Amino acid sequence: MKSVFLLFILALIPTSVLATEASGIKLEPVQIDVNDRASLQRGARLFVNYCLSCHSAAYMRYNRMGQDLGISNEMVEQNLMFAADKVGELMTVSMPAKDAKKWFGTPPPDLTVISRARGPQWIYNYLRSFYREEKWPGRWNNAVFPNVAMPHVLYGLQGTQRAVFETREDGTKVIAKFEMQQPGTMDKAEYDAAVRDLTNFLVYLGEPAKLVRYHLGLYVLAFLVIFFVFVYLLKKEYWKDVH
Ligand code: HEC
Repeated sequence: MKSVFLLFILALIPTSVLATEASGIKLEPVQIDVNDRASLQRGARLFVNYCLSCHSAAYMRYNRMGQDLGISNEMVEQNLMFAADKVGELMTVSMPAKDAKKWFGTPPPDLTVISRARGPQWIYNYLRSFYREEKWPGRWNNAVFPNVAMPHVLYGLQGTQRAVFETREDGTKVIAKFEMQQPGTMDKAEYDAAVRDLTNFLVYLGEPAKLVRYHLGLYVLAFLVIFFVFVYLLKKEYWKDVH
């Protein structure tokens, strides 16, 4: 009976949790703030420079992004548009899906709503967990997404790290920590901050209406505060006669 119960509990745990546990890497928390415009702008810049060559964000238009992030159309055209001609175009990718499949074995998925599918914490940790795979020279692996087909496109910033393994009591080999082999242009704190910006941007991309909703929320709260004053006065008025 006990083991059936245990199986039932195990079935409730998402497999991704088990997978990350097995690789020994704990997901670190990340503070997301889609109202931090400067962070979103930095994230957008990283995204178009490092991700848009393989991944599309095909449900977002450049000018909508510019508007939401407070960047003028001219600035978008000059600084953020490499794969499109017009600012009203969707953020598609120039690489044909067929070629991408041939090169990587699996085509890079569209990233518009990836933050909803994976969650910000997963993405933040994924982008920090690439390491040189010693079994396959010249290739990358990832502790959060084992055997991933994506290369570490940010290694110039983060540097190249290798995984140091340890063997657990039950015989499984897990990653104990990472060791920096060749530093990149950023130190750890700078890289973590950059990846946070990128994750922040992907969260925005997954739900641009969040910005509108948060602003609306402030108005609703302000309304409730004012409304409360009147309700309170009214209550006092009614109870005056009862007492
Ligand atoms: C050289 C091409 C290439 C570039 C550039 C690239 N990726 Fe990828 N990415 C891939 C491929 C291929 C996959 C599919 C991996 C797989 O399924 O094994 C992938 C997968 C992913 C996933 C996981 C999707 C899932 O299945 O849940 C995320 C998240 C992601 N990429 C984010 C990014 C971000 C952010 C950037 C920019 C910093 C980026 N990628 C740049 C090729 C690329």
